Amino acid sequence: MAVRSRSLDTLAIHAGQEPDPSHAAVMQPIVLSSTFAQAEPGKPKRFEYSRSGNPTREALEACLAALEGGRRGFAFASGSAATLTLLHTLSPGDHVVCGDDVYGGTFRLFDKVMKPMNIITTFVDMRDPSRVSAAIGDKTRLVWLETPTNPLLKLFDIEKVAAIAKARSLPLVVDNTFASPVLQRPLELGATVVMHSTTKYINGHSDVVGGALVTSDDALGERIAFLQNAIGAVPSPMDCYLVLRGLKTLPVRMRQHVKSASELARRLTEEKQVRVVHYPGLASHPDHALCQKQMAAGGGMISLELEGGVDESRRFLSALRVFTLAESLGGVESLAEHPAIMTHASIPPEVRRAVGISDSLVRLSVGLEDVEDLWNDLKTGLEAMR
Ligand SMILES: Cc1ncc(COP(=O)(O)O)c(C=O)c1O
Repeated sequence: MAVRSRSLDTLAIHAGQEPDPSHAAVMQPIVLSSTFAQAEPGKPKRFEYSRSGNPTREALEACLAALEGGRRGFAFASGSAATLTLLHTLSPGDHVVCGDDVYGGTFRLFDKVMKPMNIITTFVDMRDPSRVSAAIGDKTRLVWLETPTNPLLKLFDIEKVAAIAKARSLPLVVDNTFASPVLQRPLELGATVVMHSTTKYINGHSDVVGGALVTSDDALGERIAFLQNAIGAVPSPMDCYLVLRGLKTLPVRMRQHVKSASELARRLTEEKQVRVVHYPGLASHPDHALCQKQMAAGGGMISLELEGGVDESRRFLSALRVFTLAESLGGVESLAEHPAIMTHASIPPEVRRAVGISDSLVRLSVGLEDVEDLWNDLKTGLEAMR
């Protein structure tokens, strides 16, 4: 019998994961088989071929759907594979309206992969939702946003943008990677699809690259299921198992990420070498009221504008020892990076500057180490800037 609950703590551990019927294994078996025996030609028992469907992947997909409150979940080989698969619902000549501050690789997909196929994207700062209405034209077929944004941690009002998209019968996709379903549930706010890089908080251990889509729109769900199989950018059963295992502690991890990040953000505001702390959980953040409305808390990510330029930022980052200098985020370990040089280097400098990604911006992913060790590390970094 499936465990029924509205609590994400319970769903993260049980959703989609009943004891395996063959051996009553309590933990989800890793079914590596690429193919499945059929009793008669064309009469598979349940699965046929692991690109089309696989028991370990199915368990992960059901769990992701339950956590996001959607009817169907789909797992992919990476967040970018999830994005690209969804973008294949579009046709040449179609137009997309997208938030102006998205992960560099997402921008690159729109700008360097979709544009040559004559699928044109308009990027808008959605903090003023009327800009979304203004950007929508006759050829618009999709609205896409990421909130909190990467790396500036701006927030967009999902409910307001969803209402605008709905009035024009357009699907709204929300990249929920930074918040996770523990802190933000876009489908409940009117989004049509939730997208994840499961590489980040969902897996949480920095040992898998993966992606996901979740929707309650049956027609779009059918189309995504078709494209998932037809394009084939699916994750291995081993990776699905690892993500499922990581998911079990997602709510517990998120609570600790938030606790430590809130404390570090508060302390950083008092430091002379820090010009601005971007953290939506701070009362001083311009979108704090929206954070209180649409998120359960400010999250585990902090961005800092340091005093000085690239040299000072380099000295800060090079002095860190507990924070590892690396791309990515959302793992148990703390990471620090320089968006202009690292994650967002694929965005042209003039576009970066226009959205506010300066050369002194540093992004922190606050992990689960002792908060005092993290603080001492940041202090060492700040001292190295002098
Ligand atoms: C917000 C966000 N969306 C999408 C992606 C792309 O995901 P992946 O690296 O798993 O392809 C990333 C990766 O950093 C991300 O941070």
